Amino acid sequence: MTASLAQPAADFAKGLAGVIAGQTRICSLDGTLRYRGYDIDALAAAGDFEEVAYLLLHGELPTRAELAAFCDRVSAAASTVDATVIDALARLAATSPHASVMDALRTGVSMLGLIERDDTPGPRAALLDQAERLLGQTPAILAAWIDLTSGRSPQPWPAGSIATSLLERLTGRVPSPEHVALFGTTLVLYAEHEFNASTFAARTVASTGSDMHSCVTAAIGALKGPLHGGANEKVLEVLGEIGSADRADAWVHEQFAAKRVVMGFGHRVYKDGDVRAKLLGTMCRDMVRGTAGEKIEELADRVERMMLEKKSLKPNLDWPAARVYHALGLPVKTFTPIFVVARMSGWTAHVIEQISDNRIIRPLSIYTGPPARDYVPVASRG
Ligand SMILES: CC(C)(COP(=O)(O)OP(=O)(O)OC[C@H]1O[C@@H](n2cnc3c(N)ncnc32)[C@H](O)[C@@H]1OP(=O)(O)O)[C@@H](O)C(=O)NCCC(=O)NCCS
Repeated sequence: MTASLAQPAADFAKGLAGVIAGQTRICSLDGTLRYRGYDIDALAAAGDFEEVAYLLLHGELPTRAELAAFCDRVSAAASTVDATVIDALARLAATSPHASVMDALRTGVSMLGLIERDDTPGPRAALLDQAERLLGQTPAILAAWIDLTSGRSPQPWPAGSIATSLLERLTGRVPSPEHVALFGTTLVLYAEHEFNASTFAARTVASTGSDMHSCVTAAIGALKGPLHGGANEKVLEVLGEIGSADRADAWVHEQFAAKRVVMGFGHRVYKDGDVRAKLLGTMCRDMVRGTAGEKIEELADRVERMMLEKKSLKPNLDWPAARVYHALGLPVKTFTPIFVVARMSGWTAHVIEQISDNRIIRPLSIYTGPPARDYVPVASRG
């Protein structure tokens, strides 16, 4: 006998669009983007990632002494990643050299949780300590994986800020101060963005009482997707596929005709353009003026105009960030992992905030499957 299930009349928001799922003191997207009340324009112009990471984690801008001590702790963590993790990554690099760098990073960060025996959320000071170590360990694991899959043994972590050291490690060259400043600005812009998918994933895991490493491992998995962090790598593929500005119009038409999503455009929250994209787009154009990179800017500009004209869609941060990373000589496969390095600051701040005032995150759903039916034992199913 089959009983029918009454369908609830309740409405729902697909993708939680427009749903306010909680409160935060970390970031606001109200007209402009602010981290803990500070306008993104000012923070991006200063371009000091460690200063911003400190602000996100501790709630206030650091004094010079606080910043110096913070940088020392993060740098020490980068220089002392547990050898067990590096050894395990070396074995994985030997068997899976073409694995996604995001998979390697997620695995490395997850291993840290096991080795550091992170199995309960500790007091605030312990969580801050874990967050600071993750800020240093994550770029070091990324650089080690790139070495290991390029036939080198992992090189030592160079002295300096994360922007300086990571740029040096990933390009193999000592970067110019201008390049460090621009790279630092991208890290600042990627650092935090309220209740985006990966941060919400981290907060959801935190809400269950789980540990810091489990939260950020889940967040890395969420960031990997092309509709979220994975978009910055796809942007460069798109630019390569179009090839030149004179092909842009036809290419955009083709995408719309095939109902394909154009990577680097659109945003769930910013409907009048992503403030971060405007900031970084200008910096990118300034950076490549007079170089071969101008051709890519011409092409990007043409695509932007077409997207606006045909669909009223504006670029998001991934659109200029991909071009900046390419101009800095960074390998495409490291673009999304660099986003991880930056967003680690926002994720860990949110995990600490969630734990400080927790209620388990557990929404409801509307059932749309078959009506209630009787179980038939396998022996009677034919
Ligand atoms: C970011 C993104 C996932 C937001 O999704 P969303 O909030 O569900 O999108 P919206 O509700 O604003 O979409 C409105 C319309 O614009 C379309 N649209 C949005 N972004 C688009 C894009 N990049 N290319 C083509 N069409 C797009 C949608 O398909 C939708 O069309 P429809 O009304 O005909 O169904 C989406 O814009 C996207 O996939 N962008 C490309 C991936 C990307 O760059 N991600 C990085 C985000 S920071």
